[in-house]
Amino acid sequence: MKFAVIGHPISHSLSPIMHSANFSNLSLNYTYEPLDIPIDEFHLLRDTITEKKLSGFNVTIPHKERIIPYLDEVDEQSKTVGAVNTVLIRDGKWIGYNTDGIGYVTGLKQIYDDLKNAYILILGAGGASKGIANELTKFVEPKLTIANRTMSRFEDWNLDINAISLNDAEKYLDEFDIVINTTPAGMDKNNDSVINLRNLSPHTLVSDIVYIPYKTPILLEAESKGNPIYNGLDMFVYQGAESFKIWTGEQPNIQIMKNTVLDKLKGDL
Ligand code: ATR
Repeated sequence: MKFAVIGHPISHSLSPIMHSANFSNLSLNYTYEPLDIPIDEFHLLRDTITEKKLSGFNVTIPHKERIIPYLDEVDEQSKTVGAVNTVLIRDGKWIGYNTDGIGYVTGLKQIYDDLKNAYILILGAGGASKGIANELTKFVEPKLTIANRTMSRFEDWNLDINAISLNDAEKYLDEFDIVINTTPAGMDKNNDSVINLRNLSPHTLVSDIVYIPYKTPILLEAESKGNPIYNGLDMFVYQGAESFKIWTGEQPNIQIMKNTVLDKLKGDL
């Protein structure tokens, strides 16, 4: 079988080495290639993919929303999030899935013991936030709190959550056991960090969905306060693992996938 990841730019994607390592480990004679699809060539996608006889592909920035009109079906999570990162091609039909939320939550469950009772604050209300929130509501009893700079972003949210401002997130920060940053704020040198961590409780896990850099500014700040931190590497690995399961119905070797990415990151340091 043949697989790919489409995006633009795509040359830095670690998905090809991660999936290829898993295929080799399982002695599967499958391939996974990066496909650079600029926005102005996106309308040719169906032909490009059909010609390559793919069984499925991943979709990354900037095409996760753009892909939707090209799909024959989309799953519940993609509908909620409004974005797709995995496409299964079966009998010529394109079926869209979104494995980012399940990827993040699967990882979090492994490292956080009492997720069921955790009070969770998510910073940001974009696609990534929505996917994670939708998945977390399946496991977490207390209502989730989402904080965003622009309150009108919540207008199309149909999840039962507490929507608050970033100011209130700073003020009530000590009430949360887990804080998940889904915004890019603080990554740019001109940007202040998304919220001030002054009121952070010492036990609170601070997490980011990014893994390059390995420790984002909010993680570095939390770590300097002595808090536990958790980056987005597991999210990346588990979203890929879920894609593999959708495409093949088989269980991937997650440890090999993670080690391959970690080795590559170390090599780039
Ligand atoms: P993604 O799909 O990765 O979630 P997105 O849909 O563009 O990306 O959402 C980005 C999120 O980061 C949004 O919640 C955005 O806030 P706004 O809705 O107010 O735009 C948030 N964000 C981006 N830059 C930010 C900044 N400098 N400070 C605070 N929030 C920021």
